[in-house]
Amino acid sequence: MRKIYVFDTTLRDGEQSPGVNLNTREKVEIAHQLERLGIDRMEAGFPAASPGDLAAVNAVARAVKDVTVIGLSRSREHDIDAVREALQGAQDPCIHVFLATSPIHRKFKLRMEKEQVLETAQAAIRYAKKYFSKIEFSLEDAGRTELDFMAEVVGMAVREGAKVVNIPDTVGYLNPAEYGAIFKYLKENVPDIEKVQLSAHCHNDLGMATANTLAAILNGADQIEGTVNGIGERAGNTAIEEVAMALETRQDFFQAKTGLVLTEIARSSRLVSKLTGMVVPGNKAVVGANAFAHESGIHQDGMLKEKTTYEIMTPESIGLKESKLVLGKHSGRHAFREKLLELGYELSEVQVNEAFVKFKVLADKKKEVSDEDLLALLEEKLVDTPEVFRLKTMFVTFGNEATPTARVTVETDSGTIEEEAEGNGSVDAIYNAIDKVTSEEVTLSDYSIKSVSQGKDAQGEVHVLLTQNDVSAQGRGLSTDILEASARAYVDAVNQLIEKRKTFGKRDRVTL
Ligand code: KIV
Ligand code: ZN
Repeated sequence: MRKIYVFDTTLRDGEQSPGVNLNTREKVEIAHQLERLGIDRMEAGFPAASPGDLAAVNAVARAVKDVTVIGLSRSREHDIDAVREALQGAQDPCIHVFLATSPIHRKFKLRMEKEQVLETAQAAIRYAKKYFSKIEFSLEDAGRTELDFMAEVVGMAVREGAKVVNIPDTVGYLNPAEYGAIFKYLKENVPDIEKVQLSAHCHNDLGMATANTLAAILNGADQIEGTVNGIGERAGNTAIEEVAMALETRQDFFQAKTGLVLTEIARSSRLVSKLTGMVVPGNKAVVGANAFAHESGIHQDGMLKEKTTYEIMTPESIGLKESKLVLGKHSGRHAFREKLLELGYELSEVQVNEAFVKFKVLADKKKEVSDEDLLALLEEKLVDTPEVFRLKTMFVTFGNEATPTARVTVETDSGTIEEEAEGNGSVDAIYNAIDKVTSEEVTLSDYSIKSVSQGKDAQGEVHVLLTQNDVSAQGRGLSTDILEASARAYVDAVNQLIEKRKTFGKRDRVTL
């Protein structure tokens, strides 16, 4: 079996998804999970984008041990210096330098002739070489670049000593036949091409990212780039779990394998969805809620007779377990601890006690506490921001012919504040009351709600994105009551915003 290296860019390209804004603690939490997932290389961010991004990359670089940590850089000395600073403390640092090569990008974005593109890229690799022994070079928009010019640029990167050369289909334009043919062409036409690893980086604009990536593997790609759940710019990137499971399920055909710990896929998917606020569609391949659900009678009948009739991979293979132990309000600490172990959580005594108290509160409101409920509770606890404001109580009045009102009581270190407000709806009234308490001028840029499990008593999870000048922050709230979850998410986002402002001041984030 050929080993395919996995370059995960959830924390960089993934974080470029509209509305996603991870803070440092959240990035580190995801980084630890990616390490458990067994990825080989992790792109932690784009350090030159802002001081906050640089600090987050540095925190990831220091936190993970068994993975190569990568920082992205345009072909500029300033960016390369930022990556150098950000990767201090990394066990195995690598810089990812890129420059666009396609005629469209050369003409309209870079305003450079081919020769200048070659020279700029070469100068950047040479500069990066002074500080890094591992360099990946990407030809942005390679997918729309002339093949002969692409070969020239790749040849230059090989001669200059890049270790990996990446061929992005930046705008998700190609089909598998075309994308695969590029790898074949480069293998056959670039001298010394065997000295570098070739990497596939696909976007999903036409829904072909996974198929294109697999075509690249068939044509000699050594590394694949992608994100958990396929999140990313526009329609997203290749979903790494899809590629890994395709290679696993069709080993007979691909004769290649990633080193991913497949049983960590479900957990990684859940964590990334929770922290980014990007809900995984039910019908998403591999990790969607319906990926292993069988609705039609004929299918159910087949499944009961022999699972392989309708299942090409098992839920267990991605880490989904059928629950043996259902918890409720009479469950004790012992059963609770057993359940945590079953879910893969080995917590300290203090953490177990803390989680147990929260579980009891929830169990009083719900008859059965499902695994999803527990995971949501536990994962809520994984990342905690210093709380300037703590929601204590709330009271809401609503009638379809009356103006909704809300009264909230919020605790701060200097005392308790109570405020009341009206709104267009209940959530609006709550948010207006919280605004009065915090005196923060914020814009609600995004709001989403989903149910954590099934049933009328299911917990609701709310995600909000708040913006203030050029700073934005996400907040999450969880409760069996969606108004309370909405209030908690909003207060959480205000706390995150204050924390960000305190740490980095106003920031001017450079976007790619
Ligand atoms: O899609 C792309 O071209 C990129 C580059 C920065 C590698 O993400
Ligand atoms: Zn990309």
